[in-house]
Amino acid sequence: MPVALLLLLALSIAIRIDAEESSGVCDFKPGLKPRPHSVSILEFGAVGDGKTLNTLAFQNAIFYLKSFTDKGGAQLYVPPGKWLTGSFSLTSHLTLFLEKGAVILGSQDPSHWDLVDPLPSYGRGIELPGKRYRSLINGDMLTDVVVTGDNGTIDGQGSVWWDWFESHSLNYSRPHLVEFTSSDLVVVSNLTFLNAPAYNIHPVYCSNVLVQNISVSAPGESPYTIGIVPDSSNNVCIEDSLIKVGYDAISLKSGWDEYGIAYDRPTQDVHIRRVYLQSSSGSSIAFGSEMSGGISNVYVEQVYLYNSFSGIEFRTTKGRGGYIKRIIISNVELKNINMAFGAIGDCGSHPDDSFDPNAIPILDQITLQNVTGSNITMAGNFTGLAESPFTSICLFNVSLTIPATSTSWTCSNVIGFSEFVSPEPCPELNSSYSNSSSVCYSILKSYGKSANL
Ligand SMILES: *[C@@H]1O[C@H](CO)[C@@H](O)[C@H](O)[C@H]1NC(C)=O
Ligand SMILES: *[C@@H]1O[C@H](CO)[C@@H](O)[C@H](O)[C@H]1NC(C)=O
Ligand SMILES: *[C@@H]1O[C@H](CO)[C@@H](O)[C@H](O)[C@H]1NC(C)=O
Ligand SMILES: *[C@@H]1O[C@H](CO)[C@@H](O)[C@H](O)[C@H]1NC(C)=O
Ligand SMILES: *[C@@H]1O[C@H](CO)[C@@H](O)[C@H](O)[C@H]1NC(C)=O
Ligand SMILES: *[C@@H]1O[C@H](CO)[C@@H](O)[C@H](O)[C@H]1NC(C)=O
Ligand SMILES: *[C@@H]1O[C@H](CO)[C@@H](O)[C@H](O)[C@H]1NC(C)=O
Ligand SMILES: *[C@@H]1O[C@H](CO)[C@@H](O)[C@H](O)[C@H]1NC(C)=O
Ligand SMILES: *[C@@H]1O[C@H](CO)[C@@H](O)[C@H](O)[C@H]1NC(C)=O
Ligand SMILES: *[C@@H]1O[C@H](CO)[C@@H](O)[C@H](O)[C@H]1NC(C)=O
Repeated sequence: MPVALLLLLALSIAIRIDAEESSGVCDFKPGLKPRPHSVSILEFGAVGDGKTLNTLAFQNAIFYLKSFTDKGGAQLYVPPGKWLTGSFSLTSHLTLFLEKGAVILGSQDPSHWDLVDPLPSYGRGIELPGKRYRSLINGDMLTDVVVTGDNGTIDGQGSVWWDWFESHSLNYSRPHLVEFTSSDLVVVSNLTFLNAPAYNIHPVYCSNVLVQNISVSAPGESPYTIGIVPDSSNNVCIEDSLIKVGYDAISLKSGWDEYGIAYDRPTQDVHIRRVYLQSSSGSSIAFGSEMSGGISNVYVEQVYLYNSFSGIEFRTTKGRGGYIKRIIISNVELKNINMAFGAIGDCGSHPDDSFDPNAIPILDQITLQNVTGSNITMAGNFTGLAESPFTSICLFNVSLTIPATSTSWTCSNVIGFSEFVSPEPCPELNSSYSNSSSVCYSILKSYGKSANL
């Protein structure tokens, strides 16, 4: 590419990032005013013995609280106890508050979980074609909804779902613990999540989402359990949390192949900070592989990634279309990790045979800065697409301790720049091989400005 064009590109990137202020998402906090009305789930006949099914109590309570939506909203209070339930739906201007010692238990009987249509951006259930189970707690087209507590617990009792998944006896795709679709001003905070059947928190087509001060845990061997999945959503802040799951801890997505391309809703303006992440068989932080609506303007800082298969992974494949671009990741500590960074262009399957093999995804402007890592087996695998090499992969000040005997970096179809990186990266990520330096520096410079906003 001619230098003049590169410089022009660099300049336009700098201006765009500045204008979008992607680093400030966590600084905007939706108001958390106390609700003027509060009722206890006990008033609706709930029994907290861990055996009585309380689905109807939750549904009735929320139906009643709907009448307060235009009166400043209301709180549904869940006292200490074990509250077994099937799936139920929230309403707008509602706070679901779980007292210390309150445990919401997901029923292990699939008939207590409704079936819903697949998400339009996926076209089918993610695990099986057709419908999927509704999540335990869900909200559709809501505004101003808070799921919080004094460290109450939402326990999905997911072991039965993991067994059905592994023995191929599921009839529909597994449910999640908390899912919001097409909602605005969503807060999930001050709670513990245990044993999700699949994902823990799944905002889809949402805006202004805050996930703060939560703890998520599922056994390392639980299949494809994921912590938080911002999916075709914008203005998402995830902070001060601890996640330990079987697969990815945080996974950013935006739809699947032709369905995601047609739905065309990106995940953008995401800020992740001060999180402790472990993912035994996946990646602490993953982008994709479902990313057909695009993922951009993501800022990750002050994260501690440990005891994971990989640290940070970008996944895509031909047929996805879409893009992953303008991602800045800084101040990262990695420990006990097989592969620190991955960017893989042949990762993931297709929803059906109708995907467009010529829908080539783009990976561009990925910056990793101020990273230290110890006990890392492999530094990075950057395997781009011949039709669309990964571009402007920028590594600054990255220091990884890896065994002398292992291959540190594997690169193909990738163009980038690096400075102060050890072990020494592959020539594709070196200014003497390509000329990404101007782009990388301009990203850094513009980022420096927006970080101070
Ligand atoms: C985080 O949650 C715990 C209870 O789980 C609470 O004691 C603490 O005050 C919360 N911290 C913040 C910063 O909200
Ligand atoms: C929150 O609750 C979980 C599960 O009961 C417990 O393990 C954890 O220590 C609690 N955290 C705080 C900060 O109280
Ligand atoms: C799937 O459907 C079959 C046939 O209706 C049923 O026997 C089985 O229990 C179902 N599996 C699950 C996990 O619900
Ligand atoms: C979490 O709990 C702390 C301590 O009770 C409280 O100060 C804070 O406002 C809560 N945060 C959210 C986002 O609910
Ligand atoms: C990297 O670390 C240096 C020195 O601590 C700091 O000045 C710089 O702001 C850091 N970069 C980022 C992106 O946080
Ligand atoms: C190094 O990390 C691996 C996982 O990648 C882990 O199995 C091993 O125990 C770690 N070694 C030390 C000394 O912590
Ligand atoms: C490099 O990153 C480390 C943290 O990972 C930081 O302490 C150090 O100051 C950084 N150096 C520069 C020159 O930015
Ligand atoms: C890197 O990723 C590519 C693409 O998935 C894979 O074929 C290759 O085996 C990986 N290399 C290493 C050393 O893991
Ligand atoms: C880039 O490659 C050259 C030649 O292989 C090497 O001397 C130099 O140290 C490399 N620079 C970086 C930043 O890795
Ligand atoms: C790379 O770009 C820099 C800055 O734009 C320029 O000075 C240098 O000559 C270019 N190098 C090559 C090999 O094109």
